[in-house]
Amino acid sequence: MENHNKYYIEKLAQINAAAGIEKPTACVVTYGCQMNARDSEKFSGMLFEMGYDLTNDEQAADLVIFNTCCVRENAENKLYGNLGNLKEKKRANPHFKIVLAGCMMQQDIVVDKIKQSYNFVDVIFGTHNIYRFPELLYSHFETGDSIVDVWENATEIVEDLPSLREYPFKAGVNIMYGCNNFCTYCIVPYVRGRERSRKPADILAEIKVLAANGVTEIMLLGQNVNSYGIGLECGTTFAQLLYMVNDVEGIARIRFMSSHPKDMTDDVVFAMRDLPKVCKMLHLPFQAGSSRLLKLMNRKHTKEWYIDLIDRVKANIPDIALTTDIMVGFPGETEEDFQHTLDVARHVRFSSAFTFIYSRRHGTPADLMENQVDENVVKDRFNRLVTEVNAISLELNEGRVGKTLSILVESEGKNGVLNGRADDGSLVHFEGDKALIGKYVDVRITEAKTFYLIGEQVQ
Ligand code: 5AD
Ligand code: SF4
Repeated sequence: MENHNKYYIEKLAQINAAAGIEKPTACVVTYGCQMNARDSEKFSGMLFEMGYDLTNDEQAADLVIFNTCCVRENAENKLYGNLGNLKEKKRANPHFKIVLAGCMMQQDIVVDKIKQSYNFVDVIFGTHNIYRFPELLYSHFETGDSIVDVWENATEIVEDLPSLREYPFKAGVNIMYGCNNFCTYCIVPYVRGRERSRKPADILAEIKVLAANGVTEIMLLGQNVNSYGIGLECGTTFAQLLYMVNDVEGIARIRFMSSHPKDMTDDVVFAMRDLPKVCKMLHLPFQAGSSRLLKLMNRKHTKEWYIDLIDRVKANIPDIALTTDIMVGFPGETEEDFQHTLDVARHVRFSSAFTFIYSRRHGTPADLMENQVDENVVKDRFNRLVTEVNAISLELNEGRVGKTLSILVESEGKNGVLNGRADDGSLVHFEGDKALIGKYVDVRITEAKTFYLIGEQVQ
């Protein structure tokens, strides 16, 4: 699709210059998943080209854009809290601009609520037209009106948006957008639309440019990466794409997320086993252990099938680190159902698990189910689950003490301690020179914690 961005970006740069704001600043606030984080890099890139300097300070910025998430209610509440905090600033300074984008805006009830209760917001758009951000902002500047432009469906994929990457050495790369699965609790298919895959040539071109600029670790992103390729003329599968990315010179590590167990085919398992650059980690959400509940969730897998899949993965890749998403409190969940969840967690032994309390989402089938579970019962189950998965994480980490792992150093934390990640995704803290950020360092693990490892650089 033709990209008219440049025209509006230049216009906005002129408007800012004419307004006499010497160096306007913009703050991009991101909620939610890696896909949103990637979209935010595109917002940052577009803003930068419009002449804005990027800042993390919402209160000081001339423009704030919230890239919203609606997967759970607390993500939505955070936005409302933030808008409330900015109300005064907006009243005092009408030149201050507030832009709302992302998944929440795809819901009519949200946009209606914002129009009613937060009518000082300047621009609203959704997930399907992020490339039009410069044009919408320009319309706002030209007319002074609040602009709302939310599309119900996605159009073709727009390539080549500007982008300011968060890290110079690792990068997320979208390979597909949307989700076709309609798990009954989940809002994502309604706000992100149907699955669309990028062409392999576009993906590879992006990764080659990244590699040429010093990126060595790639995270292939999609709501459901395993069904990559459906609808593409060339028919490339996800496993084939992994082979292609593995061939890109300069890339050392390949990760991907998320996968759906029902689409985790053997060819992907074999590609993970055989390709040297594909990291030995797999994020495979199972949500719940009870096959009865999984059916009500429309997950299209059973407890036995999931366990069998995990056993196959482990048999092929013995040193694999497994991570997952688990939900408690889905409507109708009984103690017996919950015991199946604990059973899967104990059987698989996840390196780490993202645990969630079920959150009712307007417009999803589960929201209409009558037997919503009592809040206190859910909290109790949640606490028991967290205790169990944390104990397993710690045990697995303790098993790594004494090993030497290759760490890609990512950042400097408190007290000059460096943070980095091993091939299997585990977070490692060690003392070292911050000049090591972006480099691979051998670190011997000396101590294990629940969520991270502590080590010493091997000289
Ligand atoms: N409530 C709680 N958690 C949810 N997730 C998706 N929808 C909901 C919901 N309504 C979780 C799932 C998914 C992860 C990204 O978020 O576990 O895998
Ligand atoms: Fe939501 Fe299910 Fe799609 Fe994941 S696979 S985004 S949980 S509908």
